Amino acid sequence: MQDLVANKVHDEARQGEAFAPFTNDENQYNKRFYIESYGCQMNFSDSEIVASILQNEGFGATRNYEEADLVLLNTCSIREKAEQTVRKRLTEFRKIKDAKPGLLVGVLGCMAERLKSKFLEEEKLVDLVVGPDAYRTLPVLIEEAETGQKSVNVLLSREETYADISPVRLDSNGVTAFISIMRGCNNMCSFCVVPFTRGRERSRDVYSIIAEAQNLFDRGYKEVTLLGQNVDSYYWIDEANDEIVTFGKLLEKVALVSPELRVRFSTSHPKDITDEVLFTMAKYDNICNYIHLPLQSGSTRVLQLMNRTYTREWYIAKVKRIREIIPDCGISSDIIAGFCTETEDDHADTLSMMQSSAYDMSYMFFYSERPGTLAARRYKDDVPEEVKKRRLKEIVELQNRLSYQSNKQDVGKTFKVLIEGNSKKSDADWMGRNSQNKVIVFPKENYNYKKGDYAFVRVNDFTQATLIGEAVKE
Ligand code: 5AD
Ligand code: SF4
Repeated sequence: MQDLVANKVHDEARQGEAFAPFTNDENQYNKRFYIESYGCQMNFSDSEIVASILQNEGFGATRNYEEADLVLLNTCSIREKAEQTVRKRLTEFRKIKDAKPGLLVGVLGCMAERLKSKFLEEEKLVDLVVGPDAYRTLPVLIEEAETGQKSVNVLLSREETYADISPVRLDSNGVTAFISIMRGCNNMCSFCVVPFTRGRERSRDVYSIIAEAQNLFDRGYKEVTLLGQNVDSYYWIDEANDEIVTFGKLLEKVALVSPELRVRFSTSHPKDITDEVLFTMAKYDNICNYIHLPLQSGSTRVLQLMNRTYTREWYIAKVKRIREIIPDCGISSDIIAGFCTETEDDHADTLSMMQSSAYDMSYMFFYSERPGTLAARRYKDDVPEEVKKRRLKEIVELQNRLSYQSNKQDVGKTFKVLIEGNSKKSDADWMGRNSQNKVIVFPKENYNYKKGDYAFVRVNDFTQATLIGEAVKE
């Protein structure tokens, strides 16, 4: 099974990325750690918390595993393929370890809980296994591992949000950053392993979130993305002010840090996104008009089996509401092809829903059965692989047409673009994003823009994934 399309939730280009905060780090460290991250943005964000904890222990980050004393893989379990990639990588590190005794190898993240005993005892691949809620115990676990013991902590917590830990921004462009606002997930979507690997939902202290946003802005950052498995169920009681902070309220508070600081968020569950959130988005110019609203399937029957708790009609009404309140809102989706019992009619329902929602883009997957999930226990994974593949191909082809249409409609329009850096292809061009999260590339020409500036760009052409334009006077 493989994911066909580059994914922002699972950005294929970033899978396995090794991180180090600076090219030349002035600090003196006793030891070096090397960390690779897999999976969703949440995992990449967690690696920044891990880096912060390790730095306090005298470990400096390196991009070069050959000079590392500690190698960490922050892993993902969401689909089988993600796990296979990590397993392969671990075997490679096992070999390196054989040649360099004393090197510690650790598994962090979502595979930790699932595969701890296999990794440690059966396959003897790693020295250290640490689950997503146990990163504070890393220093003790490393010490233990240094004495030759196998150390494990995969306990999930009902409280841990790492609220007080200031993440070390790894590999940052200095313009955009992620802020984790909640952890875990209480939605029991039957296909999904996340509730088991990341535990119960909990929201982070609102003051620590605002302080992090303010601090980033003070350091020159211009965009923050509020991250959570299900951001709309953010809920925090501010006892001092007798206020219940919902996600809508949180968005507003972050937007008020500065009109120059853009705010994004991900991911929304269609059942939870409220009018309050939509009106807040409409009210503040700096809250980006973009919603990632995973559909998963367009068939009410399959949605029920998936335990998504909405129907096809309900989803259609939600999209209509979004477009009513925020007419130029970008909408993207996640879609799973070939879930248990899916028929050709169900599949046709998915295609027609994609069409009616007119997604700007989607992340599209084969269904991959995950051990322990509700679906694995209750239903048979009965759609043959070739059928899954064919349906996925049809979904991808349709999305390509929808993305083409969406980009075509942008030709002639002018967007406010936040410049993130040079375009990948040429240093003579800037790359940035509009509010709808589309990438726009435009020539630097004689304008005096720099990274982190806002520019107005008129679109005059496009490719599958990029708008092409030219800067215009405001
Ligand atoms: N098989 C395929 N795709 C999955 N996703 C989650 N679990 C599975 C699975 N078992 C997809 C969903 C989710 C996205 C992050 O990954 O579409 O929204
Ligand atoms: Fe993220 Fe889920 Fe993968 Fe864990 S299993 S890294 S939460 S997508």
